[in-house]
Amino acid sequence: MCGIVGATSERRISEILIEGLKRLEYRGYDSAGLAVLNDNGDIELVRRVGKVQALKDAVGEQPLSGTTGIAHTRWATHGGVTEANAHPHISGNCIAVVHNGIIENHDKLRQQLQQLGYTFNSDTDTEVICHWIHHERKKHDDFFAAVQATIKHLEGAYGTLVMDCRNPGRLVVARSGSPLVIGLGIGENFVASDQLALLPVTRRFIVLEEGDMADITRTEVKVYDRDGNPVEREVHEFDGHYDAGGKGEYRHYMLKEIHEQPSAVRHALEERLTDHGLADDVFGKGSLELLKRVKHVQIVACGTSYHAGLVARYWLEALAGVSCNVEIASEFRYRTSHVHHDSLLVTISQSGETADTLAALRLSKQLGYLGSLTICNVPTSSMVRESDLAYLTRAGAEIGVASTKAFTTQLVGLLMLTLAIGQFRGMSHEQQSAVVQSLKVLPNKLEEALLLSEAIEALAPEFADKYHSLFLGRGTQYPIAMEGALKLKEISYIHAEAYAAGELKHGPLALIDAEMPVIVVAPNDELLEKLKSNVEEVRARGGIMYVFADKHAHFKSDDSMRVINVTHCDELIAPIVYTVPLQLLSYFVAIIKGTDVDQPRNLAKSVTVE
Ligand code: F6R
Repeated sequence: MCGIVGATSERRISEILIEGLKRLEYRGYDSAGLAVLNDNGDIELVRRVGKVQALKDAVGEQPLSGTTGIAHTRWATHGGVTEANAHPHISGNCIAVVHNGIIENHDKLRQQLQQLGYTFNSDTDTEVICHWIHHERKKHDDFFAAVQATIKHLEGAYGTLVMDCRNPGRLVVARSGSPLVIGLGIGENFVASDQLALLPVTRRFIVLEEGDMADITRTEVKVYDRDGNPVEREVHEFDGHYDAGGKGEYRHYMLKEIHEQPSAVRHALEERLTDHGLADDVFGKGSLELLKRVKHVQIVACGTSYHAGLVARYWLEALAGVSCNVEIASEFRYRTSHVHHDSLLVTISQSGETADTLAALRLSKQLGYLGSLTICNVPTSSMVRESDLAYLTRAGAEIGVASTKAFTTQLVGLLMLTLAIGQFRGMSHEQQSAVVQSLKVLPNKLEEALLLSEAIEALAPEFADKYHSLFLGRGTQYPIAMEGALKLKEISYIHAEAYAAGELKHGPLALIDAEMPVIVVAPNDELLEKLKSNVEEVRARGGIMYVFADKHAHFKSDDSMRVINVTHCDELIAPIVYTVPLQLLSYFVAIIKGTDVDQPRNLAKSVTVE
């Protein structure tokens, strides 16, 4: 999704802005731009469709001298991917605006501004913001007051950063629904939609709360709450573990992140387990008091995080003895749902900013849940700050748009949640110890799963010319099949569907032929024999299968079946271990297809709009 960077300094800032945009590239975008206030008080604007590199090249040809500026990567919502629609937008050659989010009443505001004589140069909702500020500027001497007056007219979600040619060295930001942080420097200050953008220049951040505005100069940051009262917001030191660093020896961030899973899980386990159970306060101070009362769990999430929730349902119901529902956030938030007695609302999110999941969390507060817990990767995110309890997945920054290590570390957190709730609901000491022991060997098992890399790379060419594929699993492996299918479609653009293997004969069997590879996840669990029958159903119809199987499951490769033996592991952690070969498969297929693995087309890393 869109990214924002801004800076006010004594030094030239165009390079800082461009480096910031580069660090936000992973979020997905289709055009980029920047505006810098030069020494003559003029706004210099450069925008380009495509990559930040194109913007950098353009700036390189005409170096910018200004010390205050704003920049943006745009992911089109209103208006096509054109230079005119790229941000920043300018009004009266003096007000420059970048904006993340959607202004829902932009049509109405546009008409009013047109009646006032404003001409629009883009199809974006954002342009109404800069013209409206320009209009308010005629009534308000003070730049901040003009932005404040404008914000009152806006409906929807926005993170907005504004620059005014008559106020060199000053930036104004407003946050409503779209995250913004202020980076604190010495004699210079910065703004970004994600702190990762600013790591080369600062490690100290203020995270703006919903409704906050800030008035920023080189030497001062004043924050105001939604009612316009001055407020002090905490200054956070950046958590070093969250720094992505570069790609290192890897060709793509996604591959690096796949390989980081053993160490990410090790880090996630540190100091959280005892020999037989969980350390105190894994879910936050005093969390056990709340978890003790939980009789039902309602999980809400999107995409890959939703798949983690689906796996957790098996664990929570079978081991922790609580009922559990799992729902996609965009559905949950718009329907009337029944709230079970003593129900805990659990959101799962890598970013902690996904608009639908965040809206579901906010909605839940009016619905009578016992409380809310988020399983999240970003410590400063809205979900962490707005939930009663938070479990940090400690995966480190995930840059590849396709989620990998965030997912496996979410599953670790959900197993811990199973322990935390189960200990109060009759889970025996033996069962708790078994979960702990399985978790402790997990990093090694993930390392062993990664050893399949070469074998999977060798398989990938067989998928590259296919248009469709089917993923099958049973039990906890059904959501893993769904996750495998999602990975394949998002980075290789091959249509992939997942089915619970038992559902095959209720429809999808009709699709089976030699042109549609069928990928089967087959650990050695109690459903193995049932799964084998499903495999025979596919074989009998001429299907070609790729079976990721436990070596004790006794599958044999033949003309219709390629067997890839996955390290033997406990049934409990099998969904986490079997995720790895499926991630590798999608990665290597995407490499052959030549797609943009880290930034697949049309997708964004953090979906902060509906
Ligand atoms: C897929 C993927 C997405 C996200 C989804 C939710 O690889 O990354 O499906 O899982 O957009 O994002 P978070 O977890 O940040 O709420």
